[in-house]
Amino acid sequence: MCGSAAHSLFGIISCMAKLHLGVLGSGAGSNMQSIVDAIAADKLDADIRIVLADVPEAKILDRAKRHNIRCEYLDCAPWKTKLEGPAEDRCIDILKSAGVDTVVLAGFMRIVKPKLLAAFPDRVLNIHPALLPAFPGIHSWKQALDYGCKVAGVTVHFVDAGTDSGPIIVQKAVPILEDDTPETLHARIQVQEHIAYPEALGIIASGDYRIEGRRVRIGG
Ligand code: GAR
Repeated sequence: MCGSAAHSLFGIISCMAKLHLGVLGSGAGSNMQSIVDAIAADKLDADIRIVLADVPEAKILDRAKRHNIRCEYLDCAPWKTKLEGPAEDRCIDILKSAGVDTVVLAGFMRIVKPKLLAAFPDRVLNIHPALLPAFPGIHSWKQALDYGCKVAGVTVHFVDAGTDSGPIIVQKAVPILEDDTPETLHARIQVQEHIAYPEALGIIASGDYRIEGRRVRIGG
C-alpha cells in the first residue's frame, strides 16, 4: 500500500509510483510551473493530468496551455471561499476521469471540503506561505512581517478538515530582512516554495513515508 509501506517476502519495502497530478489554482501558477520544471528535468516522477482554476482569467490556465496540459475553468459559484456542492462534485468527476491520484493545491484560494478529501484520502496537498502552525489564512507573509517575526517560510502539508492544519511534509525557513516589504518577503518565500513543492511531491512519489498522527515520518 503506497503512502505507508508495502510488505514483501523480504520485509518492508517502499512503494515508488509515478504520480498523476491534478492541480487546482487561482492565480499566477508559479508553483505549478515549478512542478512542470521538476518533471521536465527528471527530478520528479509525475505527470500533470489536469489543471483547474476557479478564476477564469487566472494565469495558471495560460501556463498550462503553454505546456499543452489540459486545463479548465471551474465555476465554483455561488460560494466565494469554499469548494462545495455541485462544483465540488464536478471537480471530483473531472479529476477522477482524468486519472488523477494526487491533488495539488497550488495557490487555490478556497477551503476544500470533506467530500474531496474522502475522494483522495491522504492525497490532497497544499502549499502555504508561512511556517505553520503560525499564520494560517491569507497574506501570511504580511502577517509574519507585521508581527515582527525574524523568520518566515513555507509549508507543504497534507490537507485535512481544518484550515492549513494537516500533517506537515516539508518546511523551509526564510529570514526576514530589516528592509523587507510584504512584496520582497513574498518573493523570497516563493523561491523556497518552488523548491519545497517538488521536494514534497518527490517524497510522496517515493512512497518512503508514513503518517503517524500529526507527524509525517520520512525514510526508514
Ligand atoms: C503562493 O505563495 C502560495 O503559497 C499561496 O498563494 C501563492 C500562489 O502563487 N497560497 C496560499 O496563500 C494558500 N493559503 P502561484 O499561483 O504563483 O503558485
